[in-house]
Amino acid sequence: MEVFLNNHIEIQHYPNEPDAVAVSSEFREKMSKRRSIRHFSSQPVDREIILNAIKTAGSAPSGANRQPWYFALVTTQSVKEKIRRAAEQVEQEFYDHKATEEWLNDLKPFDTNSVKPYLSEAPALIAVFSRSLCENEDGSRQRSYYPVESTGIATGFLLTALHYAGLATLTHTPKPMFFLNEVLELDKTYRPFMIVVTGYPKRPIKVPKITRKLLHQIMDEY
Ligand SMILES: Cc1cc2nc3c(=O)[nH]c(=O)nc-3n(C[C@H](O)[C@H](O)[C@H](O)COP(=O)(O)O)c2cc1C
Repeated sequence: MEVFLNNHIEIQHYPNEPDAVAVSSEFREKMSKRRSIRHFSSQPVDREIILNAIKTAGSAPSGANRQPWYFALVTTQSVKEKIRRAAEQVEQEFYDHKATEEWLNDLKPFDTNSVKPYLSEAPALIAVFSRSLCENEDGSRQRSYYPVESTGIATGFLLTALHYAGLATLTHTPKPMFFLNEVLELDKTYRPFMIVVTGYPKRPIKVPKITRKLLHQIMDEY
């Protein structure tokens, strides 16, 4: 019999799925339909879906299990508007002065500019932060490991969970994003990672025509 460390438990979560190939293919098909949405309807979102998606994000792996992420769910109109005003200022700076010609050119197909109506029109914004220090139960702080990588994985889980439940998202990254700390009154151990704009798309749903790299372009076998 295998001997486990006494802080280990046995789990039964990995049955041999008889239809594993079909299941993986169905999931791929579902995920391939996710697109970034930049025009949201005012249709409200069931809060439970978002909370479930954030719980899913919270189940992601993380360096030494520090779970160095934080999700600020913003649905209050006045707070969304504050975020929009601050983000648009930053974006204006970006489009007018900071972005290189090359970057602006690469953004052309997406028809984006410094005006971001979705930040106040979408029913929910999920501001994602990574934490360089995390609180213990007793309030003391502990360093985290690979906070950015871990938060990236958690955000992937979040986007997947929201998409799986039929919600549309946009990963929005105004640069810099420290205005989020100000608006949400969060100290510097909260490093803004991204804003996940969440809701239902405005119809008709129009998205930029893009292509995906083929499998052989993104992998090799060794
Ligand atoms: C890290 C990251 C940052 C992004 N930032 C922005 C952004 O600030 N504004 C925006 O309109 N789209 C942003 N996007 C969305 C991308 O443009 C989009 O994912 C890409 O064009 C592929 O399209 P798709 O998401 O519809 O598959 C971002 C995506 C990622 C992953």
